[in-house]
Amino acid sequence: MNSRRKFVKQISAVALVAGAAPSILSWALPQPQSVDFPGEDGMILRSFRFVDLETPVEYFNTWLTPVPHFFVRNHMHEPSELDANDWRLSLGGGVDKPLTLSLAELSKLEIHSVVNTLECAGNGRSLHRPQVPGVQWGKGAVSTARFSGPRLRDVLQRAGVKPTGKHVMFRGLDEVPGKVPPFIRSIPIEKALDADTLIATHMNGSPLTKHHGFPARALVPGWIGAASCKWLTEIKVLETEFAGNFMSPAYRFPNQPVQPGEAVKPEDTHPLTALTVKSVIADPSDGASAKPGKIVVQGAAWAGEADIAKVEISTDNGATWNPATLGHEQSHYAWRLWSYDWKAVKSGDYSIWSRATDNQGRIQPSTAVWNPSGYLYNAIDQVKIHVS
Ligand code: MTE
Repeated sequence: MNSRRKFVKQISAVALVAGAAPSILSWALPQPQSVDFPGEDGMILRSFRFVDLETPVEYFNTWLTPVPHFFVRNHMHEPSELDANDWRLSLGGGVDKPLTLSLAELSKLEIHSVVNTLECAGNGRSLHRPQVPGVQWGKGAVSTARFSGPRLRDVLQRAGVKPTGKHVMFRGLDEVPGKVPPFIRSIPIEKALDADTLIATHMNGSPLTKHHGFPARALVPGWIGAASCKWLTEIKVLETEFAGNFMSPAYRFPNQPVQPGEAVKPEDTHPLTALTVKSVIADPSDGASAKPGKIVVQGAAWAGEADIAKVEISTDNGATWNPATLGHEQSHYAWRLWSYDWKAVKSGDYSIWSRATDNQGRIQPSTAVWNPSGYLYNAIDQVKIHVS
């Protein structure tokens, strides 16, 4: 962790220098003096341009990720000025009575809480082979928090959704650089009306921080993180899926397996929605050394809208699998922590594998489905360990 801290500090220093230069590098950090990376908490900086911070897997040992350790994924600049008193959320489109709500009005609605594992669709992108362009996330663009706020459905019902309303669009207040399209996405009306879909204002009991969408964000549980629009400013009921960059070509998956280099037509793809089944080993860390005897293997497993049924561990390259013990803390949409006591009898080099299965019968595969954008990486996790 020490070397990682040093790394983040060094990177931050480089970013500050880059931000100070007026030329081509000035996009790196537009206001370096005001950027407050939670770097002291050992987060991995994945992009200078916008704030993209990855959670080290060693932090997958608490059910609720503390907010400073919660990964951050931004497609563009965070809003520089956000005054809670001035902020308004508008709701329009295919509704009977368009509404505008202040934060105080939103806070008066019934509050509901959902513990949700939020995972970026691009998590694990760097592990796809052959590699694909995009933010090279390792295993940690995923974290879990208790999100609280009014139900989206309560606000939609207050406005009265017309029968023609089939999709619900969210617009964020991101500061859009140049010609980049704004962050706007939509979800189908059924998911928008689900009792667990929120306009979240709080995370782990505290108001959202700016990195996570202050003062309010959508929380679409079990779905790819991109569905949960931050810095929410507008909600609109639409008859069709929103047509824009972040719905297409972004965040779509080929309907059929494709070979690297093969062209995929947009009509042969579908929008990403719920997450797949996956487990990650938090401890021991990759490349660790240990003495023969009991070695506790632990980690987290999640399955989007499904529940984890079991996690199995192999220490013989998949020849045999042993059940891990699932943690007591559980909630639909949240990851399960798990642990396995391995008795390492002989010295040697080992590979520890973890494989999750969910209650829909989906099993973590040995190879993830390759796709041109590197989404939904979920291959069996592996760490190497030296026992002597
Ligand atoms: N909302 C806005 N307005 N702008 C964004 O760039 N990124 C999305 C989503 N909501 C994004 C957004 C993506 S891709 C992810 S994975 C999640 O936010 C990450 O949420 P977090 O930064 O709170 O972890």
